[in-house]
Amino acid sequence: MLLSVLALLLPACTGNKVPDPVEDDTAAPLPLPTERCGFTPATDLDPADDVVAIELEQAPFQWDPGTGTLLTDGLAYNGEIPGPVIEVEVGQTLRTDFTNGLDYDSTVHWHGLRVPEEMDGAIRMMDMVPAGGTFAYEFTIQDAGFYWYHPHMATEQDLERGLYGRIVARHPDEPRVDCDLPVVLDDILLDEDTQQIAPKDTDHMQLMGRLGNLLMANGRSDRRVEVKAGETMLLRLVNAANARYFNLTLEGQAMRVVASDGGWLGEEVPVDNLVLGPGERAIVAVDWTGAPGDELRLMNARFRLHDDDAHMSEYDPMGEGENPVMTFVIGDEAGTPTPMTLPTDDLPAFTGDEPVAHTWVLDEEMKAGIVTIDGYSYPDVPPVMVMGDMPTGFVVQNDSEMHHPFHLHGNRFQVLTVDGVAPAVGGWKDTIDVPPFGTVELASQLDNPGEWMFHCHILEHAELGMAGFFMVE
Ligand code: C2O
Ligand code: CU
Repeated sequence: MLLSVLALLLPACTGNKVPDPVEDDTAAPLPLPTERCGFTPATDLDPADDVVAIELEQAPFQWDPGTGTLLTDGLAYNGEIPGPVIEVEVGQTLRTDFTNGLDYDSTVHWHGLRVPEEMDGAIRMMDMVPAGGTFAYEFTIQDAGFYWYHPHMATEQDLERGLYGRIVARHPDEPRVDCDLPVVLDDILLDEDTQQIAPKDTDHMQLMGRLGNLLMANGRSDRRVEVKAGETMLLRLVNAANARYFNLTLEGQAMRVVASDGGWLGEEVPVDNLVLGPGERAIVAVDWTGAPGDELRLMNARFRLHDDDAHMSEYDPMGEGENPVMTFVIGDEAGTPTPMTLPTDDLPAFTGDEPVAHTWVLDEEMKAGIVTIDGYSYPDVPPVMVMGDMPTGFVVQNDSEMHHPFHLHGNRFQVLTVDGVAPAVGGWKDTIDVPPFGTVELASQLDNPGEWMFHCHILEHAELGMAGFFMVE
């Protein structure tokens, strides 16, 4: 990385000086080397077994998304895109000494983890970390699964610029594999001439969501990972895109979903393709097949955000076809499969008869250029008050012609039905796609009291006012 940065900073051949052939070679961007499947977690600075302590600093950072051009508006946690992988176990305390190296207020939000209200980093005066300021986030890990962190102020801009990181929260009995790969899926909209982050074309993009023209896995469009034929991979996926839904297949390989947003399922669910809306996660098990040298790509197919009958034409800068997200290369060595013995002590158990505390109604008024919840836009959305610590139902009803990924902070839920049908993949979730003119029924134990946000995870919609608060007593 350092080499390619230096190379790009070197002036192009100047004056009469005969270019040095070695220097000239290094002036071309270096291709990303193929990495072996796996990850290196952030360094734990606390020797105690029950505490993981990390340092996290967000600051401007120029990075190459795989085009060979450094993004001058880039941002990063600890100078890495994505930020460091935080690896913790249920029951451990995670302490994060956070420094805000930006020149505006910010926060860290721990998407999906049940944390105390004052650690949630949502938009509250008390939560903000001022420019140049520090804050120690500290909480106990309650939930096993795959989570992520990101700022919760200037969210739509800062995520596009690169601020996101992964959290691997381990269950003591979860399957362990060598090839455990946490991947942030994202897209970025680059100006075709400058290859820099394109400025926001305000109104249209705000309503339609910002779809990018470059797909990235862990911050690069050209990521290559080596795997072994026969070995089991656990592919942990999070969709960090502003608005894009990913619709994924893995060339020639069978995928089984073993965990959703909030942790392990009781079973493996074979799927042909996997759809993840912004904010959603899944862990997918794959037993690799193939011959040494085979290249197998994670492919993304077009997902229309609007109902097919919607009058509004939808434009995707990636085009109508399939596009590769990343490439897996079968190595020379063979591996052995790992059986998926999945932990079952933490599975949802709702009857479907939970009393419904509230029905949220999502809508858009295209002409007025507004998005609403219960007829209002944030901050006027009426707060929802609910009694905590009992099985409680919620309904989210979408009266618009566009998909909305609806996210609750603070309390996880189970999806009972989507348009009247139980979902194929169950388990705990915190973000759910509400299809155009569709309805989802949720149930939660509401075991985490506090004042929590709900919002659409299409970040342009959240910014435009598709957000509010619910109070759990
Ligand atoms: Cu990932 Cu309130 O967000
Ligand atoms: Cu939305």
